[in-house]
Amino acid sequence: MTTLPPKMFAVIQTHDGYTGSPSGPFIEDAADWLAEAEIDVPEPGPGQVLIKLRTASVNPSDIHFIKGEYGQPRVKGMPAGFEGCGDVVATGKGAEALQGQRVAFVAAGSGAWAEYVVTQALMCIPLRPDISDEDGSAQIVNPMTAMAMVDIARSAGEAFVVSAATSQLGKLMCALGRDLGLKPIALVRRAEAVESMKAHGAHEVLVTTDPGVVQKFSELSHELKPRVFLDAVADQLSEQIFCAMPNGARWVVYGKLSPELPKLTQTGQLIFMNKRIEGFWLTQWMTSTPPADQMRVVAEVQARFADGRWKTDVSERLKLRDVVGNLADALKKSDGKVLITP
Ligand SMILES: NC(=O)c1ccc[n+]([C@@H]2O[C@H](COP(=O)([O-])OP(=O)(O)OC[C@H]3O[C@@H](n4cnc5c(N)ncnc54)[C@H](OP(=O)(O)O)[C@@H]3O)[C@@H](O)[C@H]2O)c1
Repeated sequence: MTTLPPKMFAVIQTHDGYTGSPSGPFIEDAADWLAEAEIDVPEPGPGQVLIKLRTASVNPSDIHFIKGEYGQPRVKGMPAGFEGCGDVVATGKGAEALQGQRVAFVAAGSGAWAEYVVTQALMCIPLRPDISDEDGSAQIVNPMTAMAMVDIARSAGEAFVVSAATSQLGKLMCALGRDLGLKPIALVRRAEAVESMKAHGAHEVLVTTDPGVVQKFSELSHELKPRVFLDAVADQLSEQIFCAMPNGARWVVYGKLSPELPKLTQTGQLIFMNKRIEGFWLTQWMTSTPPADQMRVVAEVQARFADGRWKTDVSERLKLRDVVGNLADALKKSDGKVLITP
């Protein structure tokens, strides 16, 4: 049995609740939202586990959350961070089976940016030994979302559209789409990303800063008939892309990388062309998908990381004690995740 220290280092939130004015997953200075603290090591309650952190990954949802613009309220003094991997070092009643296991987890008790994390056993996935800690730290939020959303796309035809395609999730979806024989149409904002996105599985790549992008998309849309738009940007260009899609198209908004609020310009399309605007949230998917189906998805996710069909691109590695000082700068780098280790 591991002897646990009474105190731990953590990066804690300095605000409560929500903000009324969302401005997107960007920060100028993490100290506006976070602070360093020595706090008590949390204790797992019934159905919970205590995890000694190996690696945490930083997702846009973490930044929305610390700024008070995510789907759940902040708790001042609680560690930040949703996702990571580590070793289960203590368990509450009913969670004993996980004792000693290396798991990927989503934090649902205390945050991941701390030396120790409490979460529900149900939010942990034991990791295969051939998955690295870095891949293990980003094994749930994006990979499960990629599997669920490409499934939506697959049900509606061959071609589908992915915005912010250079994001980790965009790359996972393009690769998965290609492997399933689908035709992902990738939207990127940096022209230099075109070739790498093709290598990542995109069938076509359009650059959103190109003044002719809507015209080029319209031509592609006529040819390939994409009926699902998986969109993490949700700005006015997204609306124009949706308007250029064929009958029956679905605009599935799953992120808000742009603070711009789009206006609907062709509401008749919703009436006469059977088009739909909807959202996707993994949390909802997890509560509505039968456990057996989720286990199949988990096994496929781990198989894809283990054999290299998927990998986690890393842009920066930070120590927990450097998060408050350096996170804002680390997040400015493109093309990869910021990872945090104790
Ligand atoms: N709804 C859900 O259940 C769910 C689950 C997982 C993720 N998500 C969402 O999925 C999105 C991607 O997550 P991720 O972890 O893959 O992100 P990520 O790897 O951190 O990448 C984000 C990338 O998006 C691009 N980007 C940022 N702002 C943009 C803008 N205004 N327009 C176009 N592109 C922009 C940037 O790439 P470049 O610098 O290369 O342009 C940036 O590196 C986020 O919005 C996240 O919240 C939602």
